[in-house]
Amino acid sequence: MITMLPAQGVDETVTPPTIPVPQVFLDLLQTENKEGSRSGETLGDYLLGDLLGTGGSAEVYLAEHRATHKQVAIKILSECATFEQTEFFFNEAALLASLSHSRIVHLLAFHEYPVPYLVMNYLPSGTLRQQHPEGSIVPPHMIINYVRQTAAALQYLHDHHIVHRDIKPENLLLDTDHSVIVGDFGIATTVSPESQPEEIALDDAVVVGTPKYMAPEAIEGHAQPASDQYALGALAYEWFCGTPPFTSDFLACLIYQHTSQPLPSLREKNEHIPQAVEKVIARALAKEPENRFPSVTAFASALERAVTHHQITAIHLQHWDEYGQSANDQSARSR
Ligand SMILES: Nc1ncnc2c1ncn2[C@@H]1O[C@H](COP(=O)(O)OP(=O)(O)OP(=O)(O)O)[C@@H](O)[C@H]1O
Ligand SMILES: [Mg+2]
Repeated sequence: MITMLPAQGVDETVTPPTIPVPQVFLDLLQTENKEGSRSGETLGDYLLGDLLGTGGSAEVYLAEHRATHKQVAIKILSECATFEQTEFFFNEAALLASLSHSRIVHLLAFHEYPVPYLVMNYLPSGTLRQQHPEGSIVPPHMIINYVRQTAAALQYLHDHHIVHRDIKPENLLLDTDHSVIVGDFGIATTVSPESQPEEIALDDAVVVGTPKYMAPEAIEGHAQPASDQYALGALAYEWFCGTPPFTSDFLACLIYQHTSQPLPSLREKNEHIPQAVEKVIARALAKEPENRFPSVTAFASALERAVTHHQITAIHLQHWDEYGQSANDQSARSR
């Protein structure tokens, strides 16, 4: 299994396997978007503008309503989408239609013809990945805000027995006031509150997600609310020190690290991080879901307490800024 996996796609969402791992990973990682740009075309009542983003099975455009001139974001299913990807797209529409939360992207409409497309509110400030490119260190007060806002959206989902399964910086959008809005429900799924994860037969389990941020149980096809907490913990880890907990160009290696390797010390990567903060992050990243916080909001509160109580003091902050600045300079140089 380890040698046959490709050295690509560890940042990409792996979507919908109906066949067993690892063939699923191989097939889906090799899916490429083969479409050209539709900018300038008309779709229903909308004129398509700039391409905002492209994923494995969809393109997202800035668009304008022809009559009202309201700006929206339109996510269009690729004509190359597989049957399973099409199912996931319709699932995304149905899930989004059932959700109403200030920290979750808002579905305005869904159309099936001439191609299936979702119309969403347009978030003009980009994604957290665009805001903080790979290698960036984020100031603690911003990390707390990002984690708290994302956790609020995730808690709402978990209370409604939904797991997002793809929390990563590319799927966290920023509103005009720079608050976080959770997007991309492409692989979100409902979980039955009654069934215990281990009761799901592996054959029935669906393995999807972004390997860089995937919890061990999600890798094994048993995603559950605690898997979103793990992904958010991995993001917080990355924001604190500039690299995710586990990195490799090799998918099999990443999977092995998430499932079997101890968490690399955060304080070794950034000496200014208080022990209490490292402890909180490590609990969110526990290999066993039951060893994590009881809820994603409990994780966010614990992180906030750890950062504020163990005062990353003015002196620390000054060092932090210097450290963050030099790390950010280095990452800019390497891009
Ligand atoms: N409502 C929105 N407003 C502004 N930009 C958006 C919006 N929705 C999506 N985008 C942009 O489009 C990109 C792709 O959107 P999304 O993640 O929903 O699609 P995807 O094709 O499923 O990607 P992935 O491969 O991560 O699953 C986002 O990373 C973001 O840059
Ligand atoms: Mg996405």
